[in-house]
Amino acid sequence: MAAKIIDGKAIASSIRESLKKEAAELSARAGRPPCLSVILVGDDPASAIYVRMKGKACAETGFESRTFTMPAETTEDALLEKIDELNADESVDGILVQLPLPDHINESAVLERIRPDKDVDGFHPVNVGKLVIGEKTLIPCTPHGIIKMLEHEGVEVKGKRAVVIGRSNIVGKPVATLLLHRHATVTICHSRTQDLPAVSREADILIAAVGRPEMVTAEFVKEGAVVIDVGVNRLPDGKLVGDVKFDEVSRVASKITPVPGGVGPMTITMLLYNTLQAFRDHVNA
Ligand code: GUN
Repeated sequence: MAAKIIDGKAIASSIRESLKKEAAELSARAGRPPCLSVILVGDDPASAIYVRMKGKACAETGFESRTFTMPAETTEDALLEKIDELNADESVDGILVQLPLPDHINESAVLERIRPDKDVDGFHPVNVGKLVIGEKTLIPCTPHGIIKMLEHEGVEVKGKRAVVIGRSNIVGKPVATLLLHRHATVTICHSRTQDLPAVSREADILIAAVGRPEMVTAEFVKEGAVVIDVGVNRLPDGKLVGDVKFDEVSRVASKITPVPGGVGPMTITMLLYNTLQAFRDHVNA
């Protein structure tokens, strides 16, 4: 049986519709729209595309967005000063510094400078800590989007085996935490995991977030598993592929996300969701 393809674009679009409605109502009451500020340092072309997409998504949802582009030679102090300015600006609800940053800038120092209540990425240690102990907080966008997709698809998480391949702070660790809170039995795998295919094959829910093109083959997947592909990799011929070998895995899985059109559209949607959550807190609505 061919797997059902999880349509991230359609799920994202229906969530965005409700965010747009709520934003319009709250903006009318608050006298201003939700506002996201994005800082882009340097000229990485992929980052520039992502930042443009974030601005476009804001405009389509009735949010204000401000983009600050700073040259690659920007000093850490200058970047921190910009963050301080946005932290103090009462008309700004969310601050996002696009990653990766140039090598001479300390990423942790930057992420820790953002006011936790404006940290729409959910990367500040205060928000990471709250996530781990299960307190309400701003949840990292990609992991949150994955959970929303599973909910939308009616995938049972409680009591199931979930395997996460990848232990990044952006995806692997937070998605494992969210699955754990939903009572899955969670295994996190990484580059030193022994017999990765055998461990992955135990999964009812398999999350691939390694950044290695088509690494997850049919050998990694149990018949009927739900497979979520977080990877976005550009092959030398220009083709965009995920971490999962889609053709063969979709013959084994029960449900699978495509690349593109799977997790990707959900990430920006959850950024809008977080910005609206921050706005709601700031205007006490
Ligand atoms: N670069 C790649 N993914 C992300 C993300 O989720 N947030 C930020 N700020 N930068 C990124």
